[in-house]
Amino acid sequence: MKNIFEAFKIVKDKQIDALRMPSLPKEFILKSISDSNINPRIVTHFYPKSPIAEQYYRLRESIKSKMQKESFKTIAITSAVNGEGKSITSLNLAVAMTKDVDCKKVLLIDCDLRRGRIDHSLGLNSNVGLSEYLMLGTEINNILFKTKINKLTIIPRGKIADNPSELLSSEKMKKLLGELKKQFDVIIVDMPPLIPIADASIVCAQSDMVLMAVRAGKTQRGVVDHAAEFLAQAEANLIGYVLTHVEYYIPAYIYQYV
Ligand SMILES: Nc1ncnc2c1ncn2[C@@H]1O[C@H](COP(=O)(O)OP(=O)(O)OP(=O)(O)O)[C@@H](O)[C@H]1O
Ligand SMILES: [Mg+2]
Repeated sequence: MKNIFEAFKIVKDKQIDALRMPSLPKEFILKSISDSNINPRIVTHFYPKSPIAEQYYRLRESIKSKMQKESFKTIAITSAVNGEGKSITSLNLAVAMTKDVDCKKVLLIDCDLRRGRIDHSLGLNSNVGLSEYLMLGTEINNILFKTKINKLTIIPRGKIADNPSELLSSEKMKKLLGELKKQFDVIIVDMPPLIPIADASIVCAQSDMVLMAVRAGKTQRGVVDHAAEFLAQAEANLIGYVLTHVEYYIPAYIYQYV
């Protein structure tokens, strides 16, 4: 628990407070949705009225108020190290955005050119994506994929590239984000982690805002601070932290309503 509160302290001077994303018990999710191709952890899709989905709506509202004030459109989601919940947060936030009446077109970009599998999480399987655009000059329209979720389009990772860092920090990537801003109301960018990937912070700097996922009880404060320094050096606009893997008890009677 100590780590959770330490991580929480860091954000006191930021505009968005860290949000605690509780875990759904695995047995509960897997039993309910065993036949779906969509990742059952996208609770905003499967259980839009659940207390956990509400947390994502709160996150959406905090982001929206910033977007409206500053005419921002792109938000990158990153973390210090692997496995902190970036992709699940990106997916749930993207679906939460589609439920907003003001958002007509939502885009989720898989910028994790090494390990990203956003397409699988949404029940798609694509061989073409961001890598092909950056390496081969594939047309933008050929890397945009509509999903089964109303209003949500994705750009999948594509094939694994040999030089993801160089591709992500290229001028082409910057231009792509500029083009996409003309077509979409909100763009969520699922990033690789900052510490192992040299140029992740550069792409974060090309986004209007950055959120950092922090795995509660695991990622140490020094590691989070170190990653935040990379963002500061790149002059990225870190607006806050999302705490993931927060384990706390949700009484059974609440589950009756999800
Ligand atoms: N809020 C959460 N509560 C509990 N488990 C979570 C939460 N978010 C993600 N997870 C689980 O943690 C694991 C890692 O999540 P995810 O793939 O989103 O992390 P990531 O930061 O994108 O990882 P990578 O660095 O490999 O891209 C997955 O098994 C996921 O189901
Ligand atoms: Mg990921």
